[in-house]
Amino acid sequence: MVHSKKLYITTPIYYVNDAPHIGHLYTTLACDMIARFMRLNGIDVKFVTGTDAHGQKVEKAALAAGKSPQEFVDEVSLNFRNLATMMQFTHDDFIQTTQIRHIKAAQHLWQQLIKNDEIYLGAYSGWYAIRDEAYYQESELIDGKAPTGADVEWVTEPSYFFRLSKWQDKLLEFYNKNPDFIAPETRRNEVMRFVEGGLHDLSVSRTSFKWGIPVPNDPDHVMYVWLDALTNYITALGYPDQETSDFKDFWANSLHVVGKDILRFHAVYWPAFLMAADLPPPQRIFAHGWWTKDGEKISKSLGNTINPVHLVETYGRDAVRYFLLREVPFGNDGDFTDAALITRLNSDLANSYGNLVQRVLSFIAKTCGGVVPSPDKLVAADNALLSQASDLLPLLETEINKQALHKVVEHIWKLIAEANRYVDEQKPWSLKTTDQARMGTVLYVLADCIRQIAILTQPIVPEASARILDQLAVPSDQRTFAHLNAQLTPQISLPTPEGVFPRFTP
Ligand code: MSP
Repeated sequence: MVHSKKLYITTPIYYVNDAPHIGHLYTTLACDMIARFMRLNGIDVKFVTGTDAHGQKVEKAALAAGKSPQEFVDEVSLNFRNLATMMQFTHDDFIQTTQIRHIKAAQHLWQQLIKNDEIYLGAYSGWYAIRDEAYYQESELIDGKAPTGADVEWVTEPSYFFRLSKWQDKLLEFYNKNPDFIAPETRRNEVMRFVEGGLHDLSVSRTSFKWGIPVPNDPDHVMYVWLDALTNYITALGYPDQETSDFKDFWANSLHVVGKDILRFHAVYWPAFLMAADLPPPQRIFAHGWWTKDGEKISKSLGNTINPVHLVETYGRDAVRYFLLREVPFGNDGDFTDAALITRLNSDLANSYGNLVQRVLSFIAKTCGGVVPSPDKLVAADNALLSQASDLLPLLETEINKQALHKVVEHIWKLIAEANRYVDEQKPWSLKTTDQARMGTVLYVLADCIRQIAILTQPIVPEASARILDQLAVPSDQRTFAHLNAQLTPQISLPTPEGVFPRFTP
């Protein structure tokens, strides 16, 4: 992906059986950070999210709410759209699987699979977990439940099957040839062990309920919700049109970001479906970990779900973004506590970043009448700081291409710490009486360094970054990574500085 000029990035499409919570926020946030970074780096990005409307789980939730499935999904889907709007996510499309474009795409894929003799009619007898929308082998059950803890029920019904078993070797060959297809590495190993263990043909239609996409030419069946849902990734690119649509340019550069719980569907079923329909698999699948709350699994029954709206109202969008992106290495599980968020907010945002900006800009305002001083001759310490700033982008590119989002944040905050150290060492306030020219140079170096930092933090804390760049009078068309080396114009007047990261006091 490093040299590619296009990126197609997707979130899973969320089940509309319930209100959005922090888990949904997290996956989309991670994608949003990547999408913003890539766009700023000159890459043509298509970022898609959406909702998964079909299946038994959603049908059951609609019934419980006393609504028709269509009415129910439109209502709940709106909560997910509103969350994305509230978070100011930068997706280019929001797909919902009840849309005509998607029904067409899923039915077309089905017909390709029929044409290639990859699907046959049979009968399913076995275990099904509605919560996971997944089939389980008897041998997988633990104490009569799915390995995820979900309840299972015995299902006997006519069903179409996908010949998954015959794809075992081809999948293994594909993983071996494409070592970067599944990340992180430990997850890749788990998937490979699973496939090596043998694959069973997969039931891909249901007859015991109606809330799904009708199987072409056999209206008694609706498609298995995962076949339907996974297809969304190509629907959004214009499939079945592969020639004149976005499919042509974007599919080869596709990145699916998913939670670890749904990796198997993405890394096993999805490439098998695609290859069976003569389509290439996506380029990469990254599985992130799960958040717990105060050490406990987040669930409605425990009453410890975290409401994203409440979180943002309490701490602000940027603080929530920063915490989720920084606190846990992307790929690992993490624990959410308000105390940890407040610590990050006060130390990394208010004390480190906020303080750097505040002390430099208010010093320029007070001592230089708000005018950026012209630099004099640069000394070693100045060049050291400036070159740390200008060396940063290649490092960040390497990390973002591995989806090491926390590393991107860490690298930038290391520079912030360096800049703070430079202020302490250079003591511009003492230079005011001893050497005004040198003071001007120090302030110029700092202002330019802050400009570069604020350009780089845009994918992480977009609102604060914009405010800092405004305070440095950086024109809005000079804020991409291509402008990192542009340098701040000396002698420009800056607006009155204002604090950007207030400390949080509970
Ligand atoms: N509808 C399917 C996805 C179909 S994609 C073709 C689905 N939906 S979901 O709403 O149940 O979950 C969506 C995402 O939220 C998953 O990536 C899941 O990992 C994530 N999370 C749900 N709870 C989570 C946490 N507690 N922590 C982190 N992410 C979690 O699965």
